[in-house]
Amino acid sequence: MSVYSDILDRYESEGRLRHIPDGDAAAGLLDCSTNDYLGLAARADIADEFLRLVPERRFTSGASRLLASVQQPYGELEEYLGSLYGKSVLLFNSGYHANTGAVSALGSAPHTVIVADKLVHASIIDGITLGKAPYVRFRHNDAASLRRLLEKHDGGSDRMIVVVESIYSMDGDVAPLREIAALKRDFPKMLLYVDEAHAIGVRGCRGLGVTEELGLEADVDILVGTFGKACASAGAFVAGSAEIRDFLVNSARSFIFSTALPPVNVAFTRFIFEKITSMTAERAHLDSISAIFRSGVERITGQKNVSQSQIVPLMAGCNARAVAISSELRRRGVLALPIRRPTVPPGTERLRFSLNAGMTETDVDMILTLLKEAI
Ligand SMILES: Cc1ncc(COP(=O)(O)O)c(C=O)c1O
Repeated sequence: MSVYSDILDRYESEGRLRHIPDGDAAAGLLDCSTNDYLGLAARADIADEFLRLVPERRFTSGASRLLASVQQPYGELEEYLGSLYGKSVLLFNSGYHANTGAVSALGSAPHTVIVADKLVHASIIDGITLGKAPYVRFRHNDAASLRRLLEKHDGGSDRMIVVVESIYSMDGDVAPLREIAALKRDFPKMLLYVDEAHAIGVRGCRGLGVTEELGLEADVDILVGTFGKACASAGAFVAGSAEIRDFLVNSARSFIFSTALPPVNVAFTRFIFEKITSMTAERAHLDSISAIFRSGVERITGQKNVSQSQIVPLMAGCNARAVAISSELRRRGVLALPIRRPTVPPGTERLRFSLNAGMTETDVDMILTLLKEAI
């Protein structure tokens, strides 16, 4: 047996062997597993309208942005997002590319320290690992712990890049962005990097994220957004100063060394983002059903403050229980996937429910009833 099968056997015995699901895993089920928070992925009317109105039909860029002869759809989307965010915008092929590229590149400037929340996404951790900058992690969502680290590293660095998510992907809680941004007054070397992957489309009056909701645009130096979640598309962007954009064009390896997104996909993102900015009713509905669902989960499980968003975890305590509850729910018609280590720390294995604006209050009541029976 090879070393690889030994490792796979160990994963299996620890209940954390991953499988790619067969076929359409959500067929006939109420799907709480995707990040399609506005329920747009299934909207045939939007796809039809795009195909009718937008002439773009190029399915490949044929090269990296730095070499491609097609530039116009990228430029248009960057300019549009730039005008919404009041920043300079650079597109990346995915959120994974954006974080690995931007975090590693920004960390390559001399005398930089990265100060990241303990629960940031794997793409940020990989960006930190790829870069050369020293890094430290502060306690999750704890601005006092962050302050202590900033005090410690202020003297020995030229810049401290604080990296957080606005809505955390596995816990659904929201970073204390106001408190974190306020630290910039005491630490002028601090740059604030916020990954809004799970908040784009969902938070803020135009769906631009928690930064918009809290009016912190001027305090956030680098904002990352992704298109594969509420935008029902694919790709990502980094918004920052013109200088940061130029720097990333020259140093973000995931930007430089990867074929740019297909133009047709970029044109679709431009088309759908504009619609999303005015989906205030959908955002309000999602907010309302999420509040109902969160209090239902709290009632059923006795957990407190389960989340502050459309992402709601149900703590199972171990892999086996997470898998068992997920299977039982699936048998009853609801798809909510178990989240196991190493995606989450040991002991915090869970089911992750992600709600979307296409669900009704009746759907949410039904999920709660089935959940109560399943556990
Ligand atoms: C916070 C966060 N950032 C980035 C990503 C990666 O985005 P993408 O799926 O576009 O690669 C994810 C993916 O789930 C995420 O949760």
